Amino acid sequence: MPPRTCLSIVLAAGEGTRMRSGLPKVLHQVAGRSMLAHVLAAVHAAADGKVAVVLGPGSDTVAQEVKRVLPAAECFVQAERRGTAHAVLAARAAIARGADDILVVFGDTPLIRPRTLRRLRAALSDGAAVAVLGFRPADPAGYGRLIVEKDALVAIREDADASAAEREIAFCNGGVMGFAGAQALAILRRIGNDNRKGEYYLTDAAALAHDMNLKAVTVEAGEDEVSGINTKAQLAQAEAVLQQRLRHAALEAGVTMTAPETVYLAADTKFGRDVTIEPYVVFGAGVTIEDEAVIHSFSHLTGAHIGKGASVGPFARLRPGTRLGEGSRIGNFVETKEADIAAGAKANHLSYIGDASVGAEANVGAGTITCNYDGVAKHRTEIGKGAFIGSNSALVAPVKIGEGAYVGSGSVITRDVPADALAIARGQQTVKEGWAKRLAAVKTAKRAEKKTRNA
Ligand code: UD1
Ligand code: CA
Repeated sequence: MPPRTCLSIVLAAGEGTRMRSGLPKVLHQVAGRSMLAHVLAAVHAAADGKVAVVLGPGSDTVAQEVKRVLPAAECFVQAERRGTAHAVLAARAAIARGADDILVVFGDTPLIRPRTLRRLRAALSDGAAVAVLGFRPADPAGYGRLIVEKDALVAIREDADASAAEREIAFCNGGVMGFAGAQALAILRRIGNDNRKGEYYLTDAAALAHDMNLKAVTVEAGEDEVSGINTKAQLAQAEAVLQQRLRHAALEAGVTMTAPETVYLAADTKFGRDVTIEPYVVFGAGVTIEDEAVIHSFSHLTGAHIGKGASVGPFARLRPGTRLGEGSRIGNFVETKEADIAAGAKANHLSYIGDASVGAEANVGAGTITCNYDGVAKHRTEIGKGAFIGSNSALVAPVKIGEGAYVGSGSVITRDVPADALAIARGQQTVKEGWAKRLAAVKTAKRAEKKTRNA
């Protein structure tokens, strides 16, 4: 049998305002990526199929994020917010193209796991027409209650429409649902809006399927996977849950962390073997760390590739476009950006290396600054293999330091330095013999004169 096809519909139209932010809710980040990107990654992993995203009107930034994360995804606009079933039907054209499984996932549920979505798909392949992800929240208020008889889901009652007895039900709708593609439109079309909110509830699909003699079932998941994010406090909780998962996965993969609870990872941080991460390190998006590298405390890395056995920090800041070669060293209070640091090269103290390449085994002395910006444009600095840049030098880009060349400490280098040459560009030192001693003598004489006058 060919593998079952799948269409995932991500609902991201309804805009809550409780985030108190100018940013659309689903673009808020958890572990270095937007909530929407987490959901798109999960549906992509669970079903390498078609993805439709339902947006509210004028959600250009959300549409851009969809394009960036999953260019093949199709966006649909729900012109008016009239309920979750109405939102799903905004993607009717995609549904009508036919898929074996249809998953409906909310864009503000970033912790959903691919394996849970796969369990919903398994329920569909076992013959269910509707499969609903259930969970048992600590506080069920506000959630739809799942009314189960024997093994069948007979209805979902929204909180606003539930009787006192139904509100006692602890088993709730997590919001993720699966539909058999063959029946989806027939069910969705029958959903009305005769309820307290006057909305088209997707949840009515359960009772309708039951009435149509189709099978509706539940699949249970943990609360940490389905909690929807509506407030900054919930966003922070989701971050905490995801950080726990990421730290656990990193430890499982063999990363050494003595205080994992102080290390902040991004969803896409990648590690090789025998990597060590000291306490209090923060990873932004896009960091890869090769085998045996060590990241010392209080370092902040984003968009950086760390080569095998390289050493970073303590107190290093690696910005996007940083590539550290094998065994290279970036020490304390060093900032790098768009910087290629070749194997064995070192910048151990107090430097800024931006828009630069540093050749293998080169040594960048303390306090060296690449002056990459002239107020209008950025320019590159190229430091050759084995070059030595004396401490407190300023390299004014565009500029090249040849292989094996030597720059005297405190130089301001504005012209290229040929290979194997020495460049010194600083004020000449003058030495005046006996000058300080003469000054001291003058001072002593003045003091004596004052004393005699006051006597
Ligand atoms: C929904 C479920 C409820 C479940 C809960 C889980 C329905 C009717 N209710 O309730 O059973 O327990 O989620 O969190 O489905 N949306 C649109 N367009 C709309 C309405 C909603 O795109 O017209 C999107 C929202 O952006 C959101 C999602 O659908 O991502 C859920 O909508 P929301 O209003 O938050 O539903 P709940 O009342 O939380
Ligand atoms: Ca909600």
